[in-house]
Amino acid sequence: TYVVIDNCIKCKYTDCVEVCPVDCFYEGENMLVIHPDECIDCGVCEPECPAEAIKPDTEPDLEKWVALNAEYAEKWPNLTAKKDQMPEAEKFDGMEGKLEKYFS
Ligand code: SF4
Ligand code: F3S
Repeated sequence: TYVVIDNCIKCKYTDCVEVCPVDCFYEGENMLVIHPDECIDCGVCEPECPAEAIKPDTEPDLEKWVALNAEYAEKWPNLTAKKDQMPEAEKFDGMEGKLEKYFS
């Protein structure tokens, strides 16, 4: 499966949602996550994210993100259409420490 990682936070460009063939993105206030049981591992979302915030779970050191995506995909509503990026997306793109400060 693929997972969304910290750089999505406060950017939420949603280009990923536009291309996902199975609509498996779920939306929090500041971040999206992927539902691990619904993702078919097609990989098309990864290059579409301007923030490079989507990774295959086969990459090392992603355990925290695998768990976070699984947990919040069950709690947050499904998002199936692209929407405007967050107002200060460019400012937050690449910022360190977003999980601690802005996760929601
Ligand atoms: Fe959707 Fe494919 Fe990305 Fe999984 S890898 S979230 S199925 S676009
Ligand atoms: Fe987030 Fe990238 Fe999608 S910033 S909303 S994972 S396009």
